[in-house]
Amino acid sequence: MSVTYEMLKKDEQVSAYIQAGNDALKALGFTEHCFPHVCLVAENAAMILQALGHSHETIELAKIAGLLHDIGNMMNRTFHAAVGAEMTRAVLERYGMSYKDIGTVCSAIGNHDEGTGKPVNIVSAALIIADKADVRRSRVQETCMENIIADIHDRVNYAVTRAEINMIKSEANTFIRLCLDLDIHFTPVMDYFEIFLSRMVMCRRAAAFLGAEFEFFINDSKIV
Ligand SMILES: [Fe+2]
Ligand SMILES: [Fe+2]
Repeated sequence: MSVTYEMLKKDEQVSAYIQAGNDALKALGFTEHCFPHVCLVAENAAMILQALGHSHETIELAKIAGLLHDIGNMMNRTFHAAVGAEMTRAVLERYGMSYKDIGTVCSAIGNHDEGTGKPVNIVSAALIIADKADVRRSRVQETCMENIIADIHDRVNYAVTRAEINMIKSEANTFIRLCLDLDIHFTPVMDYFEIFLSRMVMCRRAAAFLGAEFEFFINDSKIV
């Protein structure tokens, strides 16, 4: 492969765009979409595909898609998936990546947002699950507690003290299990569903695309 995840992590243009995307979202009051988020998404997408026995090449494409999936936020939040796919195409063409691999990565990025996309390939399905699973206290960029409590996205992220994706294999099936610890003294479980139900539905579709079953636990109780 002409370009790797590790090479792109050190790329000046990629770093600047990830940072600029997060700067814009911070100004708009969104949670963290910077290196901690995109690197975690890349690693978790790779972990999912590795557990399912996919090739080294496919896993590398998933890591690249994870790293670049939110750069479109630099341009506009609403259209960040489609715009980010176009920006990614330019970056990957610069490295001479094959058009086939660019197609896979850009399709995944262009379809990762629950408002406009659905799983369209293996890389896309892994990216969706890894992205939607990243809910955690350290994503809250707001520092004033009054404002955190007033904003449902900040409140729910702040209340999540642990988020893990576990791959569980039985003889008949593979389960992709998302486990969250949610501080219910800080926010009720209903708040989580108010903002994340559509994301969980998308995760279930993505797991099915991968030939697996999605399970979701909050505080050790099975929700789906
Ligand atoms: Fe996104
Ligand atoms: Fe994301």
